[in-house]
Amino acid sequence: MNKILNKSLKFNNGLEIPQIGLGTYELVDEAETLASVKAALNAGYKHIDTASIYQNHKIIAQAIKESGVDRQSLFITSKVWNSHNKYELAKQAINDILKELEIEYIDLLLIHWPTEYKLECWKALEEAVDQGKVRSIGVSNFQVHHLKELLENCRIKPVINQIELHPALQNLEVVNFCRENDILVESWGTMIRGKCFEVEEIKTLAKKYKKSEAQICLRWGLQLGYIIIPKSSKPNRVIDNIQIEDFELTSEDMKLLATIKNGRVGPDPDNFDF
Ligand SMILES: NC(=O)c1ccc[n+]([C@@H]2O[C@H](COP(=O)([O-])OP(=O)(O)OC[C@H]3O[C@@H](n4cnc5c(N)ncnc54)[C@H](OP(=O)(O)O)[C@@H]3O)[C@@H](O)[C@H]2O)c1
Repeated sequence: MNKILNKSLKFNNGLEIPQIGLGTYELVDEAETLASVKAALNAGYKHIDTASIYQNHKIIAQAIKESGVDRQSLFITSKVWNSHNKYELAKQAINDILKELEIEYIDLLLIHWPTEYKLECWKALEEAVDQGKVRSIGVSNFQVHHLKELLENCRIKPVINQIELHPALQNLEVVNFCRENDILVESWGTMIRGKCFEVEEIKTLAKKYKKSEAQICLRWGLQLGYIIIPKSSKPNRVIDNIQIEDFELTSEDMKLLATIKNGRVGPDPDNFDF
């Protein structure tokens, strides 16, 4: 088994998260999702990232059951969608997630995007921690000003911020703020949502190390201490993507990757129509 699948990072609440997980955005087709999640679990992945809006909780529950792995050995993240950030709706969303995933507790629950109701949603998340429904709570797509607002108004501090982060969007302002405030940083879109194969600088390093462009991006994220959650609907890619233990990018390689300027592939949190 791949040893890096057992590597975990510690949250500010003392709990841990496996540094590598399986992303599941756009995994909705039943057969494809079952194949991808089961391939990951059989390969030793311990961490699955999903969200209410992905509409795949039930298929993931089925894949976990069919794979025969012990739920206690897994780390499951889900997210409350924008339409459910008002307090009562957020509480309902949390109960729905537990039911759909057929689990007693959620390891990590995030506010998916910083809507105007994010503080109400946070209160519902805090109460879910008190009730044992959720172990750790965090945010996603929060800019520095969103984080500052939350930190000034929370009872439980967020453990993580999951943001778009890849060689073409290094987002250091948010990363540095999170680090200064003991909030872990999780990268989504680490492989630039598949566009990494078109970027010259990444292609150069792929040739140098005889690795795929996807593996170069994931190694980049791992070396920077980010949590990474690569997604693929193809079982062979789910396994290949994380064969990244046997090489190390040099500081020159990292500098080269930092020169890529293609920018965001997802929505800008400051200009997103919630
Ligand atoms: N919090 C948020 O707002 C947010 C937003 C987006 C994503 N996420 C989470 O982060 C995860 C990762 O982000 P992402 O899915 O957007 O992007 P990603 O993991 O960077 O890239 C996924 C894309 O790359 C392709 N791909 C994967 N491995 C490949 C390989 N070896 N060769 C060629 N193509 C490959 C996949 O296609 P195939 O499936 O065809 O292999 C898919 O189109 C998501 O799945 C989700 O869990 C969170």
